[in-house]
Amino acid sequence: MSQYHLIQAQLQTTQHTWLVTGCAGFIGSNLLETLLLLNQKVIGLDNFATGHQKNLDEVQSTVSEQQWNSFTFIKGDIRELSDCQQAVNGVDYILHQAALGSVPRSIADPITTNAANVTGFLNMLVAAKEAKVKTFVYAASSSTYGDHPALPKIEENIGNPLSPYAVTKYVNELYADVFKRTYDLNSIGLRYFNVFGKRQDPDGAYAAVIPKWTAAMYNQEDVFVNGDGETSRDFCFVENAVQANILAALANDEGKNQVYNVAVGDRTTLNILFDSLKVALAENNVNVDKAPVYRDFRAGDVRHSQADISKAKKLLGYEPEYRIQQGITKAMKWYVSNL
Ligand SMILES: NC(=O)c1ccc[n+]([C@@H]2O[C@H](COP(=O)([O-])OP(=O)(O)OC[C@H]3O[C@@H](n4cnc5c(N)ncnc54)[C@H](O)[C@@H]3O)[C@@H](O)[C@H]2O)c1
Repeated sequence: MSQYHLIQAQLQTTQHTWLVTGCAGFIGSNLLETLLLLNQKVIGLDNFATGHQKNLDEVQSTVSEQQWNSFTFIKGDIRELSDCQQAVNGVDYILHQAALGSVPRSIADPITTNAANVTGFLNMLVAAKEAKVKTFVYAASSSTYGDHPALPKIEENIGNPLSPYAVTKYVNELYADVFKRTYDLNSIGLRYFNVFGKRQDPDGAYAAVIPKWTAAMYNQEDVFVNGDGETSRDFCFVENAVQANILAALANDEGKNQVYNVAVGDRTTLNILFDSLKVALAENNVNVDKAPVYRDFRAGDVRHSQADISKAKKLLGYEPEYRIQQGITKAMKWYVSNL
């Protein structure tokens, strides 16, 4: 039995209180759903900056009434310390997802990104240490590898950040480290690598590649590839990220106060991704005839990304259950019925 299955079995009979920030967003709502299905008590905090009430409604429709009654939603903003303090009251574990994602958004508006991702993060840390939570798990990012050329990416070898967003995510790691040294707050940073799956928003200028392309292909619109399509990523299905969060929260002392890559360890080019999405749509009776449209490379983007996940395997017992293809098959079913 894997470590994750063991912990899931334990959680079914032991109720803890969790705070999921960003619970109306993509990853946050998937965390919320899994925790409620495991009969956990969850407090959610979100200001709907990029999250949606419909994500919460969908979670409600997948859990029992009793499980839904174990959820308390606070509409609040992590940029306000008092909102963070209200949310952490009585909490055992924090899964901090609230932030403004997207490299291009941060280049267009670094101040707003910094406010949510740095000031908001610091507020959450202060509230967490005051409330003496057991472990503060937070969404870090593969963008922290910046211009470091080595592949696959190993946690201790980082380069210079390539965008304001990457700076904010690196600052998160520095603050978390200092809060351990100065206030003895336990934390774990999860460097996500291109997470995808149900409820990832396809709309808006800053949508991620998989939902954006899926929606464009579904609507028979042009798909734009930034660069030559040979840019590569380690696409990680959201269920793997959920697993990493739960394992991190319940990690033993050796596993705490570390950062971990959260991915699969594969590398997929954008050209291959395009073909995979096309095949998955065809399996759902949506046929795409248009070829992709190539345009300039995008500022701030890393050329290649692939994780070494051996640290998370060793110290957290992380075993990703989905490779990209299995994830795309699952995600596509959701997109086809929700687009
Ligand atoms: N999706 C990925 O591939 C990926 C990769 C690396 C890191 N991350 C990080 O994972 C986390 C979750 O990302 P996601 O993809 O689910 O994005 P998302 O935009 O769907 O979710 C973020 C949520 O945070 C909320 N939020 C933003 N600012 C807030 C504020 N000031 N106060 C309260 N709530 C606020 C939003 O409303 C949204 O619901 C983020 O920290 C992101 O930087 C994501």
